[in-house]
Amino acid sequence: MQTGKRDQGQASAQLVDQYSRTISYLRLSITDRCNLRCLYCMPQQGINASSLVKCADLLSYEEMLRIVGIAVGMGMNKLRLTGGEPLVRNGIMDFIHSLAGIKGLEDIRLTTNGVLLHEKAAELYSAGIRNLNISLDSMQPERFKAITGADLFDQVWQGIQTACDLGFNVKLNMVAMKGINDDEFADFARLATQRPMQVRFIEFMPIGNKESWDRSRFISAGELKEIFSTLGTLEPVAGSRMEGPARVYQLTTADGKSGRIGFISPISHHFCDQCNRLRLTSEGRLRACLLHNHETDLKALVRQGGTDSDIQAAIQQTILNKPKGHTLQDDLAGNDQVNCQGQMSRIGG
Ligand code: 5AD
Ligand code: SF4
Repeated sequence: MQTGKRDQGQASAQLVDQYSRTISYLRLSITDRCNLRCLYCMPQQGINASSLVKCADLLSYEEMLRIVGIAVGMGMNKLRLTGGEPLVRNGIMDFIHSLAGIKGLEDIRLTTNGVLLHEKAAELYSAGIRNLNISLDSMQPERFKAITGADLFDQVWQGIQTACDLGFNVKLNMVAMKGINDDEFADFARLATQRPMQVRFIEFMPIGNKESWDRSRFISAGELKEIFSTLGTLEPVAGSRMEGPARVYQLTTADGKSGRIGFISPISHHFCDQCNRLRLTSEGRLRACLLHNHETDLKALVRQGGTDSDIQAAIQQTILNKPKGHTLQDDLAGNDQVNCQGQMSRIGG
């Protein structure tokens, strides 16, 4: 008789790609809709309806549950719900409850812009979510409005407070953009020493709404680290690379306060060799790399009556075809053409 442990080991073997990476983390874009229009993601004048995924083309919750169940059966154990803004899709709480019932799915996390967090944080906590990534690029209400197209800073800030008060493990994600929010970098770093949350700085990438990207707006993680070293001491946190792409440091300021700040540097130091992720887009296409356009149409397979083993085989094939890495840095050195098409909100930020 096989033990459960052996089953799991055998299952995980299906998740190993050609470069010996174990792909155990699925990111699910549950909708491409969003209640903000961040300048790097969407055109601020609004998106015309024809560029949104049609409702019937979005995966239904039942379809997502089936695919996630199969992926978890193969050994995947960590899931992130993203978008778009996941909290704008109706029925998300029931969906999370159903996900929580999938045996073997150890960790369900959520990425949100925080607009609906004050209202929904308690329910998310009851549904079993403990880890939230919240996007915030400015703490100045006027600038928040300029970046996101909505005058909602106070509401988002209230949501962040509520999440901290409820005991969520909160990571605040700031896209660092020279000439847009650079005078707030130090304020964001200090925030990590003042509130119970990790603050992460993300290098601005030429993806999503590419018109907003400009080389002069880019600042590397290395340059940011130099700025922050003037605020106090920065000690690398051991083992943090195991948890995700961020390089995490303990910042201790002159007044003795300390907190954690992280750097996500897809451009200056890509983390492809340790990438463990697969993405399922809001229209049900499985994507092995954010920056490679190849996608496997799982929705078509599901809707054409594919069996569980057909779906499993498609997932395994996608893992086997996962590219070694992206070439963003080389692409930028050339002619600014980047091998990533499609909206971030559809693929999942
Ligand atoms: N550069 C860096 N990060 C981005 N995100 C979306 N587009 C970009 C980009 N061009 C990330 C941000 C955002 C999340 C949804 O995805 O962190 O908050
Ligand atoms: Fe919405 Fe996130 Fe895109 Fe901003 S970055 S518009 S919050 S999906």
